[in-house]
Amino acid sequence: MTPTRTVVWTAIAGAGLALAVTAVQASAAGNPVEERQMTMKQVGSAMKDLSGLASGQAPWDAAKLKDLTNGIAGSAKKLKSLYPANTAADPKTSADPKIWTNKADFDKRLAEMGTLAAAASKATSAETFKPAFLALAGTCKSCHDLYRKKKT
Ligand code: HEC
Repeated sequence: MTPTRTVVWTAIAGAGLALAVTAVQASAAGNPVEERQMTMKQVGSAMKDLSGLASGQAPWDAAKLKDLTNGIAGSAKKLKSLYPANTAADPKTSADPKIWTNKADFDKRLAEMGTLAAAASKATSAETFKPAFLALAGTCKSCHDLYRKKKT
């Protein structure tokens, strides 16, 4: 445990919040593999809805665009902490072990996903959204090609 964490922990315990915090940590840090897979699924479902806006198949809806892209940007931030090194050998993960030898590159790609989602949220029509959507979708594929094991 780092000194900073110890200090924070002591402060929390002192404030009588230890129990609540333990519960939160158990669900968040308990199973990062499940949590990152669930978060990726949400991102996937958001991208599916966004593809309707990009293609014009769904009527233009600026509020929906903001909602979904903000969700993806939030997921990008959250995902950063869901790849601890001790999950590399988890039998349930499709994450490629290369992630942990290239963690800086992996994190950079997650950050880029967040940046592109934020940029895409500013689109004002299907025409302006489409290139932003494609750029965002490109980050999914390029990261999966490198760091997600192929389905067997
Ligand atoms: C920085 C790399 C990276 C980026 C960017 C990324 N992914 Fe992933 N994704 C992964 C990895 C690694 C896994 C495997 C996670 C695991 O099994 O532990 C994954 C898994 C998934 C899954 C399967 C989840 C499951 O297990 O059911 C979906 C769906 C998915 N990603 C969608 C997306 C979409 C859509 C985007 C783009 C908006 C995206 N991802 C961007 C690395 C990335």
